[in-house]
Amino acid sequence: PVVAAVYTMGALHEGHAHLIRAAREYIDTHSERGGQVVVSIFVNPTQFSSESDVKNYPRTYRQDIVLCQAEGVDIVFAPAVEEMYPEAQWSSFQISAGELGNIFEGVSRPGHFDGVLTVVNKLTNIVEPDAMFFGEKDFQQFTLIREMATAFNMNVEVIGVPTVREADGLALSSRNKRLDKTARQKATHLSAALTLAHHALAEGHTPQQAEQEALNYLQVQEGIDLDYFAIVDDKLMHPMPGDSLRALVAATIGGVRLIDNMKMDV
Ligand code: PAF
Repeated sequence: PVVAAVYTMGALHEGHAHLIRAAREYIDTHSERGGQVVVSIFVNPTQFSSESDVKNYPRTYRQDIVLCQAEGVDIVFAPAVEEMYPEAQWSSFQISAGELGNIFEGVSRPGHFDGVLTVVNKLTNIVEPDAMFFGEKDFQQFTLIREMATAFNMNVEVIGVPTVREADGLALSSRNKRLDKTARQKATHLSAALTLAHHALAEGHTPQQAEQEALNYLQVQEGIDLDYFAIVDDKLMHPMPGDSLRALVAATIGGVRLIDNMKMDV
């Protein structure tokens, strides 16, 4: 039987439900003998920059289990920190995300992606899934995990699940709850800028031009503190002609840091 895994830090929401449904669909299309959807719930301390952030991370275990049951999850794996990291061994053995971990989201979160890759590697060795599912919303995380799986010859398919959006384009995120009414309206400029870049590319503009047009658009919007807008290839690098393209954006709006990205097929 096929095993399909969704790794989470709990506080499950509609976005996780989409990952779980993608995992179920994978089993239905890949095996006549069925399979098991495994969801892990583990607030991974090695991907946070301070102990207080780990402590303050929302924990909603009972509700998470209700969501898993409603979505037909077969196994929930919720280890304790001491089980995952006995005797603080993580300080000796870690996976390094290298240069790709130091750009974009990594600039403000040093070591974050090392922690993510380390725990995903450990979870994969424990769960031994045939396929594992990650939201494309966290595109840098998804890319790094896919590259790790290739680099270490991991015997698992890494599958990205497209971002779910509100009707006005805003990418679903648990952080959206923290946006007040004005910030919520302004937040739509992020997906609008991504769409603008997409149109510019479709009209034959170069990636640099499309990037500049999106930057110009975002810079004149009030109340958007832009961190980055960049058009990259599918390995987060500067694109070469013929590469498949992805636009990434991050900004703080009304005190809430939001990220989004979009595939730039033309
Ligand atoms: O995306 C997340 O929730 C986490 O980074 C992950 C992949 C579960 C690793 O802790």
